[in-house]
Amino acid sequence: MTQPRQPGQVDPILAAGDEPASNPTSNDYFGDILAARMHRRTLLRGSLAAAVAAAMSTALPFGSALAAGTQAAPTRIGFQAIPVSNTDSVVVPEGYNVQTFIPWGTPISGSMPAASLEASGDDQGHQVGSHHDGMHFFPLEGSSRDGLLVLNHEYVEPRFMHAEAQGLALDSEGFPQYEDGSRDADQVLKELNAHGVSVVRARQSDDGQWQVIEDERNRRITGLTPMRLAGPVAGTEHVTTKYSPDGSMTRGTLNNCANGVTPWNTYLAAEENWAGYFANQDAEIDRRQARYGIESRSEGRYQWHRAAGGADEFARFDASSRGASPREDYRNEPHGFGYMVEIDPYDPSSIPVKRTHLGRFAHEGVVFAPAVEGQPVVCYSGDDARFEYIYKFVSAKPYQAASADGSLLDEGTLYVAKFHEDGSGEWLALAPGENGLTPENGFADLAEILVNARSAADHVGATKMDRPEWGAVDPATGQVYFTLTNNTRRSEEQVDAANPRAENHFGHIVRWQEDGTHAAERFQWEIFLLAGDQESGRHLDGTPLDQEAIFASPDGLWIDPDRRVWIQTDISESVVNSGNHEVFGNNQMLVADPETGELKRFLTGPVGQEITGIAMTPDQRTLFVNVQHPGATTSAEAFAAGELTSHWPEGGSALPRSATLVITREDGGIIGA
Ligand code: FEO
Ligand code: CA
Ligand code: CA
Repeated sequence: MTQPRQPGQVDPILAAGDEPASNPTSNDYFGDILAARMHRRTLLRGSLAAAVAAAMSTALPFGSALAAGTQAAPTRIGFQAIPVSNTDSVVVPEGYNVQTFIPWGTPISGSMPAASLEASGDDQGHQVGSHHDGMHFFPLEGSSRDGLLVLNHEYVEPRFMHAEAQGLALDSEGFPQYEDGSRDADQVLKELNAHGVSVVRARQSDDGQWQVIEDERNRRITGLTPMRLAGPVAGTEHVTTKYSPDGSMTRGTLNNCANGVTPWNTYLAAEENWAGYFANQDAEIDRRQARYGIESRSEGRYQWHRAAGGADEFARFDASSRGASPREDYRNEPHGFGYMVEIDPYDPSSIPVKRTHLGRFAHEGVVFAPAVEGQPVVCYSGDDARFEYIYKFVSAKPYQAASADGSLLDEGTLYVAKFHEDGSGEWLALAPGENGLTPENGFADLAEILVNARSAADHVGATKMDRPEWGAVDPATGQVYFTLTNNTRRSEEQVDAANPRAENHFGHIVRWQEDGTHAAERFQWEIFLLAGDQESGRHLDGTPLDQEAIFASPDGLWIDPDRRVWIQTDISESVVNSGNHEVFGNNQMLVADPETGELKRFLTGPVGQEITGIAMTPDQRTLFVNVQHPGATTSAEAFAAGELTSHWPEGGSALPRSATLVITREDGGIIGA
């Protein structure tokens, strides 16, 4: 009865979670500005990599800031680096233990339905979702052995979650479909309920193992959970729908990639590649969708709008104009996505809130500067698509610990970064009347600017980056780090100082220091690491990466309280373990020293996955890390034949499942030290 979807034309360098480049503008690639300097060095040194290395070793603007920071700690990275791996297992340094925890389907609430391919869509609403991503540990009463583990579920692979999918020729994106093109409604429900966020009480037993504890705070937030819109876009004509004629509410959160934690201890889930979920049969689509990659006469990623029975919560994924007004259809449904979603994990009855003033784009995640009493709240967020931007939000009202809450994110200024060739940078305000954002130029008011954040950033001339992913803030120096995962589409003419390589296969990490407080409008920046193999990768001092430090496509990023910089990789399944990526093996996690640039590999994952999501207990004795999409490299034909590239974590002939790793030291010491 079911048949596989015919796979369409798939961009070979587009990972399952990636988004096609949709930035058509031609603002300065700012290579124009820098070209002279870089090319002169290129000619002198013979290769661009050498030029970049020279730039890195001679242009370190933070020497004084670093010298004034904490003392260099020669023992900051205390473990023995591990080699690259292509085995279907998790490897950590000697002296460390790994427990596999809460794989997809683990029951956490309700009747605690057991994980199974036969589990229903409703069951999935009481189980851990799929494709684990950003994560945070919220201690209960300050404990490092008992807390609420909160994690995102970025997307799903239907072939690994439905009994009816077994034996079909389905690739990573494929799904079962009836011959008339419709989809089984319970499969659609299961897929929506496998997205979103899990709140799981986790406690360490006396034997050191972590367990799920049944608790009233255990909760699934999914692609169906009612959510409130807050900030300037809420209640505007951009977001009026049949479901919410006054534009105050929307249903669900999708493609939650990285996360953030607010200074008032709530969780923020990013909405990254949400655009791919919508179909639109209209002949013309405006920039609120086109600039985000929704195309005219397109189908959604999983074709949820084709669920048999036509239930409203599924049909809304068709954003075509069908009714007499936006209040009678879902033409505006995609405008309710692309935000940071605030969740209070301690209150299971709380309604998640989409904070629209942080802008609408493919939010990878968000990172907050340390909050200072009486000063504005500041956070940073990257837009992960090729040639997109890095943003910063500065609140209008000051932070006051006693009363701070999410409403601080509803008033303020959104900025976008411009990196100058001389190592300075500036934040350009995306606000009415600023930088040409006027009604005459197509930006009627703040809501229109925020809904069209990408277009506004184009207009002000922000710097087009090589896919901004996670950010992190150094607790000692205040330096802000961002990973730029890769961008093979950047041409020689588009090279600039902050994105210094054409056909950037391997990515890099940039860092900056604000001129004064985090609310400053100018900053000084440098490249921290160039990812790559021993030929092309470079340490902070410009020396080549050695074998224990080579890596590609940096994505997850976090700096622990002792200033270890944790770097997680996401080499796309289309190139991992092959060609110029073969040397890197499976996706991995490394640790860097922010002062010396020393870099060592800490963990390697199983086949076909990415390492993403990181959280630590307050005592730094337990580290949580996620393994997402093991086995995604299995082709449609191999899946039909039951020949999978990964059976992790169960092994044998099991289907692969995303899961969390719990990492401890045999001697109970601090992780990484
Ligand atoms: Fe979901 Fe940009 O990684
Ligand atoms: Ca990511
Ligand atoms: Ca990625």
